[in-house]
Amino acid sequence: MVPNGKLISGHTKEFQKDVLGFLTRLSKEYGDVAKFRFGPFQNVYLISNPDLIKQILVTKHKSFVKSKDSNAIKPLVGDEGLLTSEKDVHRRQRRLIQPSFKRSHISNYAQDMIDITMDYISTWENEKERIITKDMMNIALGIISKTMFSMDFKDGYDVVGEPMEAALRISVKRMRTLLQLPLWVPTKSNREYKKAIQRLDKVIYSIIEKRREDAERHEDMLGILMEARDDEDGLGMSNQQVRDELMTIFIAGHETTANALSWAIYFLSQNPEVETKLFNEIDRVIGNRTPTPDDFMKLTYTQNIIRESLRIYPPVYIISREAEEDVEIGGHHFKKGDMFLLSPYVMQHKPEYFDNPDSFIPERFENNYLKTLPTYAYFPFSGGPRVCIGNHFALMEAVLVLACIAQRYRIRLAPDHHEVKPITTLTLRPKRGLRMIVEERNEESSQPGASDI
Ligand code: HEM
Repeated sequence: MVPNGKLISGHTKEFQKDVLGFLTRLSKEYGDVAKFRFGPFQNVYLISNPDLIKQILVTKHKSFVKSKDSNAIKPLVGDEGLLTSEKDVHRRQRRLIQPSFKRSHISNYAQDMIDITMDYISTWENEKERIITKDMMNIALGIISKTMFSMDFKDGYDVVGEPMEAALRISVKRMRTLLQLPLWVPTKSNREYKKAIQRLDKVIYSIIEKRREDAERHEDMLGILMEARDDEDGLGMSNQQVRDELMTIFIAGHETTANALSWAIYFLSQNPEVETKLFNEIDRVIGNRTPTPDDFMKLTYTQNIIRESLRIYPPVYIISREAEEDVEIGGHHFKKGDMFLLSPYVMQHKPEYFDNPDSFIPERFENNYLKTLPTYAYFPFSGGPRVCIGNHFALMEAVLVLACIAQRYRIRLAPDHHEVKPITTLTLRPKRGLRMIVEERNEESSQPGASDI
């Protein structure tokens, strides 16, 4: 047990003050199973051993549910969406939705990913400063809106982006408070939350209604969700279920990838030799033509850049579970109601798995390095039955977006930039954003065929 917890709040304050530092220290000082407390009664265990993590996520997953944390976003994503549902409801929803993430569909989405990025970056001006974190969020929102319901996001920021930002901000606040007041209590924050959700509902329901009246077949995610029929009961989804899933995928599927991209761009600006190798790969594989979905497989170094960004700053830095019954894991006995934190951030910085864990070295992933590690030493997308359903989508998106950008621009941190540090919101993102200068690579990109160094 970690000492010095406060009688009432337990270790909540230390946790909130510096989540990453607190968890890293716990894992170093207290080993594979470190016990602490949230509030007076909630026992929490940080698990930092790959085999024990595997037991929680995979082998004994039936003894666990998602932790109470996810209640904070239920008003937004509903009870029946993939992120928040449990047991049979979750299994059924997963069966229904999985087909829309099949590789064949993702390749269709890949063209949208490229078109949206090329269109977006075509407006960037040489040598001008940009807020890259905002740009990546806009590109990711554009991609998810287009692939989900064929909506052109340029017209949609006010109607979707803005209320989405407000709703997510308040969700995180709710997650971090010990006592969540029910939504009917008319606090300022609850009123704002409800208003944001109503605005989003209005847009999403009107899209669903329009689609129900539309006889044409659509290949986007909404089309696939609305046509999906369960193999077992033959039933499709109600409007409410489609709404919950759209909202879920919308939320799960943009901020995460946007942050992965922002971090990758930041790391490139700090590691010129990696940047040169990236440019060489892009010039060799793509040259001056427009990128295509098929380039993804050939951009192996670019893929490793994304893997390495996801290692150093995994957007989902904590995965939490709650024991639904008394359970034994690796000889430790836990009680029903105990809470478990599994941290990709903590595991992916362990020197026993990653040499120089704080250094950005995409080459470490070469020669199938991950295959030599225990599976849950590196798990930015979680694992088991609740593994990120969008993992292939996200990797393809991040690689293609980065390739489109790197084909045309070199990006530098603004000279007067504040120190770049991560902040732990719903996802792990750069604190106070990234201001960066975009510089056209004209001369270099007109020399395709440069060899790798
Ligand atoms: C780099 C980008 C991404 C990262 C790091 C990421 C990470 C994760 C993680 C760690 C989980 C599991 C949480 C848990 O076990 O409790 C998860 C779940 C999920 N993700 Fe992602 N994700 C990313 C992108 C996406 C995208 C692009 C989509 C959709 C287009 C998506 C949709 C989902 C959904 C629906 C779930 C819930 C799955 C379930 O519980 O069955 N994610 N994601």
